[in-house]
Amino acid sequence: MDATERPVADLPAQRDGQEVIHLDRVEKVFEVRRRAGLLRREKREVRAVDGLSFSVGRGEVVGFVGPNGAGKSTTIKMLTGILTPSAGTLRVAGVEPARDRARLARRIGVVFGQRTTLWWDLPLLDSYQLIHRMYRVPDARYRENLDRCVELLGLGDLLDVPVRQLSLGQRMRGDIAAALLHDPEVLYLDEPTIGLDVVSKANVRHFLADLNAERGTTVLLTTHDLTDIEQLCRRVMVIDHGRLMYDGEVAGLHRIAEVERTLVVDLATEMAPIALESARTVKVEGPRQWLAFPAGQPAAPIVAEIAAGWPLVDLSLREPDIEDVISLMYAGRSAG
Ligand SMILES: Nc1ncnc2c1ncn2[C@@H]1O[C@H](COP(=O)(O)OP(=O)(O)O)[C@@H](O)[C@H]1O
Ligand SMILES: [Mg+2]
Repeated sequence: MDATERPVADLPAQRDGQEVIHLDRVEKVFEVRRRAGLLRREKREVRAVDGLSFSVGRGEVVGFVGPNGAGKSTTIKMLTGILTPSAGTLRVAGVEPARDRARLARRIGVVFGQRTTLWWDLPLLDSYQLIHRMYRVPDARYRENLDRCVELLGLGDLLDVPVRQLSLGQRMRGDIAAALLHDPEVLYLDEPTIGLDVVSKANVRHFLADLNAERGTTVLLTTHDLTDIEQLCRRVMVIDHGRLMYDGEVAGLHRIAEVERTLVVDLATEMAPIALESARTVKVEGPRQWLAFPAGQPAAPIVAEIAAGWPLVDLSLREPDIEDVISLMYAGRSAG
């Protein structure tokens, strides 16, 4: 098994009974105006979050997944107080986020994978010193947290580099450190591994697992990467159209949707569909064939079998993503 496929840590216990995040029938409706012809403007309502209720216990690491536009980022923005809900109530660490945003900010950390919270032109360390002062983190605590992040996220050589010169993976690690310098109890991560290579992803996952194990930090994690969820979360919530579609064990999600990985195989010539016990050939296009197999199974034996029996030229592996799982969930529901 590949090192990156191994679960990074013992998964955290589900709950200790103490609620840190609580949502009760939360809604967020955006009013969008758009041009409809030369003079007319149309008003349209977008119900981004539609009656969402859930709670997260202290120390949980919960996956928060769903297709694009499902309402994940909107929910996270309400949980930080950036956005005010249109209806319903939210509480984070006993605080109503939109009403008490400044107070809450000291207790939560946020990482938005799509944009940095760091100062673009400043060296990483300057950004951290600004955060140190902004949140009035006690000096010793700041030092300790910084040293720890620098070591575990491999930031040592990057502290003097302006943020704009960092690679995406470096910048993401820098952003994660920035979110943790003030010891937040709760960490929201919105697509923290988007666009990262396999090694960077593995580093980020290990770091988060350790953080949760050592500090008991509660983590709400949005991602399209199923491996993130499998390795970090015991519980996953699936939302679609702003509504909760599933809330339970990651293993249960697999039972609902039998997730598959796909090997894309290029043969030397066009051939009859490859017939194997361990994989189904789902598509043939000229010399290229697609073979699907259960996501829990290793790919290596299948690759070896193909290489031994067929003129294999090239291959790639397609991991399922959350969209696949959700469409399988719907398919399973309408069939059952
Ligand atoms: N500021 C906004 N104004 C209008 N519509 C928005 C705004 N933010 C998000 N939306 C809409 O709300 C829906 C949910 O968006 P978002 O929460 O970003 O989804 P996700 O993060 O799950 O991809 C989408 O239809 C999106 O277009
Ligand atoms: Mg989003």
